[in-house]
This record gives sequence, structure tokens and C-alpha cells, in this order.
Amino acid sequence: MPVTDEINLPLIDPSIKGQILDTGVIGFSFAPQIIFGYGCLNRVGFLSLFLKAKNVFIVTDLEIEKLGFPSKIQKYLEISGVKSTIFNEIEPNPNEETIIKGAERFKSTNSDTVIAIGGGSVIDAAKIIRLIAKQGGKPSDYNATKSTIMAIHEMLPPQISIPTTSGTGSEVSIVAMISSEHEKITILGYPLISTIALVDPQLTMSCPQKLTAMCGMDALTHAIEAFISLRVNPVADMFSLQAIALIYQNLKKAYLNGQDAIPKINMSLAATIAGMAFNQKSVGLVHACSHQLSAQCNLPHGLANAIMLPHVLRANKKVAAPKYAIMATSFGFDPFSSDEAGASEKFISEIEKLNKDIGISARLSECGVKESDIAVMVPNAINDIAAITNPLQPVTKEMVESIYKAAF
Ligand SMILES: [Fe+2]
Repeated sequence: MPVTDEINLPLIDPSIKGQILDTGVIGFSFAPQIIFGYGCLNRVGFLSLFLKAKNVFIVTDLEIEKLGFPSKIQKYLEISGVKSTIFNEIEPNPNEETIIKGAERFKSTNSDTVIAIGGGSVIDAAKIIRLIAKQGGKPSDYNATKSTIMAIHEMLPPQISIPTTSGTGSEVSIVAMISSEHEKITILGYPLISTIALVDPQLTMSCPQKLTAMCGMDALTHAIEAFISLRVNPVADMFSLQAIALIYQNLKKAYLNGQDAIPKINMSLAATIAGMAFNQKSVGLVHACSHQLSAQCNLPHGLANAIMLPHVLRANKKVAAPKYAIMATSFGFDPFSSDEAGASEKFISEIEKLNKDIGISARLSECGVKESDIAVMVPNAINDIAAITNPLQPVTKEMVESIYKAAF
């Protein structure tokens, strides 16, 4: 292809082979600063001083507070001479009112920095609390799936994000999601990204077995959907492949023995680097479908992804099979032992086997989803921002309906 000074080519890969860059412009940004290590929570005081924090707003939920992590952070901050307030009111699928309350509290306590400690809901909620506290309005004003969105134009207060699960990758992403009346609000923008991601696998040692399984499958879905996304970014692809290998080797071990530190450390690393991959390339139809399952039927995000993943992969197979064969090598499969179609099917059935091994239900009907929910979810899934980068396009009503039915 001749290259001219006038570069006006699409940033998506029309061939879905995706391994060779056309001359489109891509961005590489793997911010924030990541501090990773078993026990590294004890750096939180030093890092707060580095951010010039004087008054920290600690965002968390009741479960995490019971584990004592927020009070531990307060002690580290105290040693560094930094004041703090705990806001423990984040619920599993946080709603607008909670965020607005958090933003008011952030301002009324004269806080200057946020520390989020918890799962993806807590970290996402904290990102939006900073936004509302600084720029005003309500979360739905910034919903990226609506055409009249308010842009994020302010520099937000610094945020240290500390995940207590290995899954969402929220600590390294520019995206935040909350719920509003059976609908998900998605907010995205570079100002939302954490200033520092403090990833301490020790905090995941107390993560319940079921949550380890669901979050691990969320991370695997991030890595896979980023890899087959229509966006081109070979650097992000390296992260995807490494995350897929780490999850395949460690998730079952982390599930079977929650006290074994090595699989937990590897899962922490995998979740963070899978987050770095999807932050560059976005996700796809698994997430577009699972967001509706959480909003409509209250399914945990990781569980919804785990159930939908094999079905969406089968639907996408006709365009993405070459990439499945590459990902199968991250599972350790010999690339020369079967053709592309065989490797693809083996890849998908191995994911189904992994789901089974870690106690994840195979069907939506086993998780309280009703057949009548499908009609409500289909249009929302088609309009979900994650559907834009799904490799198989266009995303039609028939396609989404048949995927939900296959998973039902
Ligand atoms: Fe996810």
C-alpha cells in the first residue's frame, strides 16, 4: 500500500488478521504508574505524600471495611502525617445517588485525594466521585452511550486505586460504570484514569472462592475480547497473550486453594495486564451482552461474562478464527497439531472446561434469568458501547438474540 503524507486510514483492521499495522495512527498509553507486589500496601503513605496529599478520601464498601484494609491504610497515612476520611457506602452495583453523596462528602471533608480500595465497583465509583466533585452534574450527564454527553474537561483530583479482587482491571482503565434503573451508565475519558494503581496480591488472599472464579473469568474475557477487537494495537496484544497464558495456568489453582500465594499473585498480575490491553483496544459483544445481564437480572459481571464468552466466541468464529488459533498457543496447544478450525474449537471448549472446573454455571437459566428478559436486553446490547469493537459486524438483533438463546 503506498503511503502518502496524507494519512487518513481507518484505525480498525478490516481483515481481522490484525497482526500487521496499516498506516493508521494508534496511541500507546499504559498509564497509570503501577506499583505491584505482595505486601506493597505499606507504600500507600509514601505514595500519598508523593501525590502531595494532605486529606485523603478513602472509598470502599462494608465488606472490605470488615476485612480491616481501610483502617490499615489510615494507619499508614497517619504515619506519613496525612489525614483521611472513610466513605464505606459503595454497593455492589453502585447507583447515581451513592456517587452524588460520595462527591458531596469529598467536598465537605475538604479532601484533596482519593484512595479506592475494593473490587471494580468501588474503583469505578471512586473515579466518578472525583468527576462529580470537581466538575459537577450527575453521573448520567456523562453517559458515553448517549448522544448528548457532557465532556470531561477538568483535571480530576489524584486517585490511588487498590484492587482487592483479580478481575476488573479498573485500576488501569479510563472507563467507569455504574447502574441506573436497569441500565448501565458508562463513563470514559483519560482524566478518569487512576494516578497510581497499587496492586497488592496479598489483599486477594481473603477473596472468597466464588469471587476468585468469577473475577478470573472477567479478566480472561478482557484479554480475549481485546485481542480480537477491531482496533489495532500490537503492544496491547502482547499483554493479552501474556494474561491469557497466566490465567490458564493459574485460575484453577487459585480457585482450588485460595491460600496458595503464587497462583493468586499471578492472577493479580494477569488481571492488571488484561486491563491494560482492553484499555487500549476495548472489549466486544461478551461485555455488551453481560452489561445487560447485570443491569436487568443483577448477575455479577464476571459470572455473566463467563457464561456468555463461549457463545460469543462461536458467533465470532467466522471472522476471528485465525486469532483464536494464536490464543490457543497461549494455552500451550501445539499450533501444528490441528488446522485453524480445529484449534479454534479446541480453544473454545477449553474455556467451557475451565468454567466447569471452577464451578461456574453453564446456562443463564440456572442463574435466575427469565426467557422474557432476552427481549429487553437485546436492543440495549446492540447499543452498548462495547459492541462497536466486536470483530463480527454489524451486530444485529438476530445475532444477539441467538447468542442469548444459546446461553439460556
Ligand atoms: Fe469486564
